[in-house]
Amino acid sequence: MHDRGRKRQAGIYLEGIAGRRPKVPVDSNALERRAREVMSAEGFAYVAGGAGREATIDANRRSLDRWSIVPRILRDVSHRDMSVHLFGRTLDTPLLLAPIGVLEMAHRESDLAVARAAAAEGVPFIFSSQASVPMETCATAMGNSPRWFQLYWSKSDDLVRSFVSRAESCGCEAIVVTVDTTFLGWRSRDLDLAYLPFSRGLGIAQYTSDPVFRAMLSEPLEEIPAKPPVNLTTLGAAAKMIRSYPGKLPEKLRSGAPRAAVQRFLATFSRPGLSWDNLSFLRDLTKLPILIKGIQHADDAREALARGVDGIVVSNHGGRQVDGAIGSLDALHSVVGAIGGRMPILFDSGIRGGADIFKALALGATAVCIGRPYVYGLAIAGETGVREVIQNMIAELDITLALTGSASVTGLDSSCLAPGPG
Ligand code: FNR
Repeated sequence: MHDRGRKRQAGIYLEGIAGRRPKVPVDSNALERRAREVMSAEGFAYVAGGAGREATIDANRRSLDRWSIVPRILRDVSHRDMSVHLFGRTLDTPLLLAPIGVLEMAHRESDLAVARAAAAEGVPFIFSSQASVPMETCATAMGNSPRWFQLYWSKSDDLVRSFVSRAESCGCEAIVVTVDTTFLGWRSRDLDLAYLPFSRGLGIAQYTSDPVFRAMLSEPLEEIPAKPPVNLTTLGAAAKMIRSYPGKLPEKLRSGAPRAAVQRFLATFSRPGLSWDNLSFLRDLTKLPILIKGIQHADDAREALARGVDGIVVSNHGGRQVDGAIGSLDALHSVVGAIGGRMPILFDSGIRGGADIFKALALGATAVCIGRPYVYGLAIAGETGVREVIQNMIAELDITLALTGSASVTGLDSSCLAPGPG
C-alpha cells in the first residue's frame, strides 16, 4: 500500500474533527500507561517487567537514543519502498511480531486476536512456545499470511520434534530457537507478586495440545514437586488451572491431567545443558530456515553462521533475562560487522516507534520484531488494538523515511545516523 504514513496521519486527524481521539495511544509511554489501567496487576507486571533492577530495559532505550538520525533534503521521496526480502518472501514492511507468551494475561482472545491482526496487516507473527492458543488454531485464522514458530528447546527431544513437525504442518515458514532462556530470568516484579503464570496453567497451550507432551503426563517425574499450602486462594488457583486445560470437566477431574501438565511443564520446559552441538539435531529435523534468537555477542553470531543456521535475532529478550546487560542496539553494531551480510539479522528489544526501526535498519538489521507495544495494544482493544499499533509503527517509519530523504529501507545505512547525545 502506497503512502501509508500520510494516510494514517490524515485518518487520525479526520476522526479528530468528529471529536474522536485514538483509543490506542500513539505515544509509546501513553500506550503503556493506558495498558496498565486495563490490565491486572499481575498481567502488567509480567509484560512490562524485566530482570533485577531492570537496568537492561533502560540500556535498550539508551542504546537506541545514543544514535541520531541525520535528515537529508531535496531528494524525491514521493515514493518510498518499505519492502524487504526474507527467506524467499517479500514482506511489505520490515516488521514482524515477536513471540510473546501468555497473551491471555493481556486479553481473553490472546494469540488469536494477534494472529488475525497480523494477517490483516500482512505482518508475520512468530508463534510463541508459551502461547495461550495452539499454533494450529492461530494458523487457521491467518489463512496464507506468513507465520513462524518460536521454539523453547525443552528437555525432551521428542517434544521438540513434535513441535517442529506441527509448525511445519500448519504452515510456519521458519523456526526461531530462543536460546537466552535456559533459566527464567530473576524477574523482580513477578517475584514480589509471587506470580508465575505457567505454574497456574497459563501459557502452556502448545504443550497441552501436543500428543507427545500428553503421553508424558503418565510418566513419573524425576523430582516430586512441592505442594503449595492449601487455603481458599489455592483452591481458586486450582479451579483456574483446571479451566485452562482443554477437554471436558469430568474427564479433567478424573485424570488429574491439569495439575500433572503444569508439573510436567515446569520439569521439562528449559534445558540448561543446551549447547551448539544440539543444533545439528534440529538441522536434521527440518528444511525450514532456522534462526537463533538471543544473540548479543559477535562471536556467537559467527558460531551460529558456522553451524549452518539461516539467520539470527539480536535480542536480549526485552531486558527480561539478565539485569545490567548491554543494550541490544549496542550489540547489533558488532554482530553486523561479524556477519558481513552473509545472513539476515533481525533485531528486537526496545523498539517503540518508527524512528527506532529506522535506526536498527540503518545499523544493519534486515527487519525488526515488535514486542511489548503490540501486547499493550492487545490489552487495550484486542485485535483492533494490535492493528493500530502496527499501523502506527509503519506510518511513523514511512514518514521518517520521507523526511530523511530515504526512498527505501534497503537503502538505509550508517551514513543516515550520527552518534547521538551519548
Ligand atoms: C517475551 N519474549 C519472548 N521471547 C520468546 O522467544 N518467547 C517467548 O515466549 C517470549 N515471551 C515474552 C513474554 C513477554 C510478556 C515479553 C514482554 C517478552 C521476548 C520477546 O520476543 C522480545 O524479544 C521482546 O519483547 C523485545 O523487547 P521489547 O521490544 O518488548 O522491549
